[in-house]
Amino acid sequence: MTATPLPGKPVADTLLSAVTERVRALPRPPRLALVRVGEDPASVSYVRSKDKKAGQVGIESEVHALPEDTSQEALLALIARLNADPGVSGILVQLPLPAQIDEAAVLLAVDPAKDVDGFHPYNVAQMWAGRARLNPCTPAGILELLDFYHVPVAGQRAVVVGRSEIVGRPMAALLLGRDATVTVAHSRTADLGAVTREADILVVAVGRPQFITPEMVKPGATVIDVGINRIEIGGQARMVGDVHPGVAEVAGGLTPVPGGVGLMTVAQLMANTVTAAELLAR
Ligand code: GUN
Repeated sequence: MTATPLPGKPVADTLLSAVTERVRALPRPPRLALVRVGEDPASVSYVRSKDKKAGQVGIESEVHALPEDTSQEALLALIARLNADPGVSGILVQLPLPAQIDEAAVLLAVDPAKDVDGFHPYNVAQMWAGRARLNPCTPAGILELLDFYHVPVAGQRAVVVGRSEIVGRPMAALLLGRDATVTVAHSRTADLGAVTREADILVVAVGRPQFITPEMVKPGATVIDVGINRIEIGGQARMVGDVHPGVAEVAGGLTPVPGGVGLMTVAQLMANTVTAAELLAR
């Protein structure tokens, strides 16, 4: 069997054209504040692509690039100012933050109504209760992708490999909210292959290149590769996922890297920003 490729582009384009329509229907354009601390190359590149995509769909955006040695007080003061600014509809603090900053305190400081990442504890609790308005972008984007390709979710066995607060945990919550039977596996899971082979839907977010091999996958399963690993092969820099390319011979559907989930994260952020603006406009 050769897996059907599940590219993110047509899904992201569909989502983004709906976002563009919703932006036009608002009395004024949404405004997204992107906050970055330090010069981590991945963070610089992610924030740049979020800023650029906002412009393409009619969302105003502002980038607040703070120095690596920014104090927690200074960052909290900026967030307080953005919370209070009625022109700002969404606030995103790019993670990870430098060591001197308490990440949990920062996420708690963002107004939950403007929390387009869905990382505030109030929104996390709403998500686990199955009623959040703003869900974390990568897992919410993955649900959009599954729906676009008509992959059934309700009643299916879903296995999420990885338990990060950004992807693994919220992915489990959202799949549960869609009536999947969900297992969360991770680096300490005993006999991981036996667990992953149970999955009709396998979502992999472990950050290890080509970690999931063909014998770990049930024939015909839908495999979602969240990994973005920059590695060198034969002296060439390449981007590879957490799923081994050989999985394409076993799976029923497989998202490519690059060109898969990554596109969905940014598109979903735009959707969340317009949702926040709609809620604030009411
Ligand atoms: N770092 C990696 N992914 C994300 C994300 O979705 N949001 C934020 N704020 N930081 C990240």
